[in-house]
Amino acid sequence: MKLDGRVACVTGAGSGLGRAMAQVFAREGAVVVVNDLAVDSAEETVGALPGGGHLAIAADVADSAAVASMFSRIAETHGRLDVLVNNAGVDRTPGDAFEKLMETGSQLPHMSDASWKLMLAIHLDGSFFCSREAAKIMIPAGSGAIINLSSIAGLAGLGPVHYATAKGGILGMTRSLARELGRHKIRVNAICPGAIDTPMTRKISEPILKGLTAGTPLGRLGTAEEIAELALFLASDDGSFITGQAISPNGGIHIA
Ligand SMILES: NC(=O)c1ccc[n+]([C@@H]2O[C@H](COP(=O)([O-])OP(=O)(O)OC[C@H]3O[C@@H](n4cnc5c(N)ncnc54)[C@H](O)[C@@H]3O)[C@@H](O)[C@H]2O)c1
Repeated sequence: MKLDGRVACVTGAGSGLGRAMAQVFAREGAVVVVNDLAVDSAEETVGALPGGGHLAIAADVADSAAVASMFSRIAETHGRLDVLVNNAGVDRTPGDAFEKLMETGSQLPHMSDASWKLMLAIHLDGSFFCSREAAKIMIPAGSGAIINLSSIAGLAGLGPVHYATAKGGILGMTRSLARELGRHKIRVNAICPGAIDTPMTRKISEPILKGLTAGTPLGRLGTAEEIAELALFLASDDGSFITGQAISPNGGIHIA
């Protein structure tokens, strides 16, 4: 088992990609801390995991104090943290005028300050707060793996400006932290998925989804399990010489 005896925290793991990662990590022997906004979805994920000792913790990753208290609890309960996946995210925020994109072809002139700030807060503040608290546990241990969920939106601008900016910022954070934390044997990488079949994507309208599939050389959406297996590779010793990289499982929709 590739994560035997290790502790992994996956944010936003009450759904979609995070839930699939929690499953794959637990299958490989990890004790998993499942975070989400609501404790019921986190508990539902925990309830389906093989093995024992898993923990459901409700916390908003954009709330610095809530994140600090989540990581204190992890340190108190498990005394270690080997893997952090900064996965919590949204693709829409209230006031982002997505409907104007549909009506007029542009949402930028109509996007509110609050919508912009909330998108950046969830993805950038969230990944920063969680990485900072994780580093406080990983640096003294002299090992760890951090995986950040970016997107093809961050690589290629395929997505609205607030989301693409947040996901692009996550790539900068990944590269900087990989350089800073390498000396402590902590690896930091980003996954940049294309269109994956999760509850997030299921909210996208049929014509847009059809367009995404048509533009994907492999002709289909990815599965959450395909992303989770890549996360396992990066989290485990299989990825022991990989750091600072952005890997994009995307079916060919973006080829760099
Ligand atoms: N599905 C895709 O096609 C796709 C593609 C590229 C990147 N991503 C990224 O992958 C990650 C997971 O997406 P998904 O498709 O599983 O979405 P999802 O909506 O199924 O799951 C996201 C989870 O994050 C949680 N969450 C949202 N804001 C949070 C916060 N502030 N604090 C804690 N938890 C929070 C939600 O409650 C939800 O359970 C996201 O960062 C997303 O941007 C997804």
